[in-house]
Amino acid sequence: MSKVTFHPKILCFLCKWCGYSAADMAGTGRMLYPASVRAVEVLCSGMVHPNWVISALMGGMDGVMVVGCRKGQCHYGSGNELAQTRGEILEETMWELGLERERFRMEWLSAAEAERFVTVVTEMTSRLRQLGPNKPLSRIQLNESQLLYATDGHRFVHEVDGKHYYWDGQIYKDHNSAQKAISYYLDNKFEAKLIPDAKGILIYTRRPCHHQRGDD
Ligand code: FES
Repeated sequence: MSKVTFHPKILCFLCKWCGYSAADMAGTGRMLYPASVRAVEVLCSGMVHPNWVISALMGGMDGVMVVGCRKGQCHYGSGNELAQTRGEILEETMWELGLERERFRMEWLSAAEAERFVTVVTEMTSRLRQLGPNKPLSRIQLNESQLLYATDGHRFVHEVDGKHYYWDGQIYKDHNSAQKAISYYLDNKFEAKLIPDAKGILIYTRRPCHHQRGDD
């Protein structure tokens, strides 16, 4: 009797210069890797807006990966370093949204590392198999007391009794307005920047904090 196996869906943002080339080489070299990967080619890992990661996870992906060039090899200077910093903030944001941090992974490799690419997607697939399907709090229907409990640790609850969307102390009537509030929250954490050596592409980076000091 065949046993049904969970096949996680992984959205994988691949930098054109390294990640995508490595994945392509794995494909042309007929290396076997799980069919869980949905690849999206981007010019640089620094271009991946945090909203894309969160939206993918809220929209039903079981995991998201960003694969970029190794440190010092980014074709746009420091796009990968900024992506790394942003990934750390993203993991913190995921927790606030009720998503397991383990569902997101960043990886750095060179264009020639097809075997490494196969290893990391295989590892990510087994990690997600252990975690099980992505069921963010957004998918759970909650009653009033559960809502209070859930929002104690997390800021986002979606579909309360199939109708309401809770985000950071407010109830929204529809999904779009809740999503807008989340985007606004993320936009306050990140900003798009044209960095001097980025050759015209937008890199998303942490928005600087402006501390006001009242007495000097
Ligand atoms: Fe590959 Fe920037 S060009 S990470």
